[in-house]
Amino acid sequence: MDTFVIEGGRRLSGRVRVYGSKNAALPLTAAALLTDQPVTLRDVPDLADLRNMYRLLAELGCVRTSEPPAEQPGVLRLHTQSTSNSHARYDLVKTMRASICTLGPMLAKRGFARVSMPGGCSIGDRPVDLHLRGLAALGAEITLTAGDITAKAPQGGLRGATIFLGGASGSTVLGTANVMSAATLARGVTIIESAACEPEIVDLANMLNAMGARIRGQGSPRLIIEGVKELHGVEHTVIPDRIEAGTFILAAAITNGDLILDNCPMDALLAVVDKLAAMGVRIATVPSAPGVPPAIDPMRASVRVTCDRVLKPVEVTTQPHPGFPTDIQAQLMATLTLADGNSVITERIFPERFLHVAELSRMGAKIYRQGPTVIISGVKRLIGAPVMASDLRASACLVLAGMAAEGTTVIHRVYHLDRGYERMEDRLNSVGAVIKRVDDKDLPPDSRIAEG
Ligand code: EPZ
Repeated sequence: MDTFVIEGGRRLSGRVRVYGSKNAALPLTAAALLTDQPVTLRDVPDLADLRNMYRLLAELGCVRTSEPPAEQPGVLRLHTQSTSNSHARYDLVKTMRASICTLGPMLAKRGFARVSMPGGCSIGDRPVDLHLRGLAALGAEITLTAGDITAKAPQGGLRGATIFLGGASGSTVLGTANVMSAATLARGVTIIESAACEPEIVDLANMLNAMGARIRGQGSPRLIIEGVKELHGVEHTVIPDRIEAGTFILAAAITNGDLILDNCPMDALLAVVDKLAAMGVRIATVPSAPGVPPAIDPMRASVRVTCDRVLKPVEVTTQPHPGFPTDIQAQLMATLTLADGNSVITERIFPERFLHVAELSRMGAKIYRQGPTVIISGVKRLIGAPVMASDLRASACLVLAGMAAEGTTVIHRVYHLDRGYERMEDRLNSVGAVIKRVDDKDLPPDSRIAEG
């Protein structure tokens, strides 16, 4: 099992490019099930979660083909060539919750879908009741058998409906993706109220419209979808990953670095930029290359990140987009452990998403938790230590803390990180970090962890 060994205390400086978005690419790939024609995606990151999705899609008859332009790096070509199997098995679904995204497209296109109910998750309670409520409103008969969700469309297919999709903590991202995708092929008009406004949903709606769908209101809480008979193939470029960009920006801040990010989706990060400005982190648009005028697309900007020597504390509450994203909460917490004063973070989306707190405390952080809220008392320094990654963003948090800490930090179970960041250590090392990826077995015995 891979482990990171990080020598801390280095400032990051240089230039990195933000890759395509994992959380956009996952529902985009599932949408290939909505058509019999090829779907070609560009700027697709090479991640464990996406490889799992390809395996699942192949079982469902949607194969990855290598015809041009799919021989190029970052280009993916998917083509649904068989509809004989519509069962997303537990073995695959348990590796990746986003498998649930295949439910809506299969149900709408094939009239039937059987998808294993996703199991537990380390970041907290993640039911799919809103997904099922939305699909049932479109006329689907939903049953739960042996841990599988079975969905059957009525005679003549799904029919449009007005659906309120809000839950206790607001909108659902993948729930909106599922119901919106299904509604594209339903008879009549569907209105989704309290839809998720995330940029990944906008990207999916834009691709579906390029496939012949009729969606309006993407990016707002009300989506209006006029059903069509069929959808055709498409070529689409995935939006840059705002969570990856936020992670790199905080990597620059926590190391008091000077970093330029290319392909940065600034327009999707305004809540983050606002909080960082209050902390003393400056983010300025710069030319995308010497002599080239700054990029005009605020979703693909080049920005320079610099910051004050000592960061100021802030108060943050995570919210659905356009609020502060929960997927940057852990990375922000790592950075605030070194701020000059007390910060407060309240986690409204996944109130239990704090497994990184104990690991940061092992590095000397002062963090006090009361339910969904933590108080972080800034310390002068973090000290390197062996720590354990528990989920994707918690592992990114520990990488940031390790780069800022004095001495050596050993992060176990970095497979969590590989789910959402492509070759993270290489890109950080290219701007001054010192991170080695080693096999746990090659560590000195006293640094290894007993698995199982
Ligand atoms: C997406 O998950 C992201 N995953 C998550 O990113 C992200 O944390 C989350 O949205 C919130 O922004 C992908 O896009 C693949 P939700 P999703 O449904 O769609 C409750 C990462 O690190 N809820 O928007 O599964 C739920 O419990 C991952 O990349 C219901 O109650 O999240 C939560 O409290 C982690 N019933 C809230 O809504 C439902 O049916 C938001 O969850 C669905 C959700």
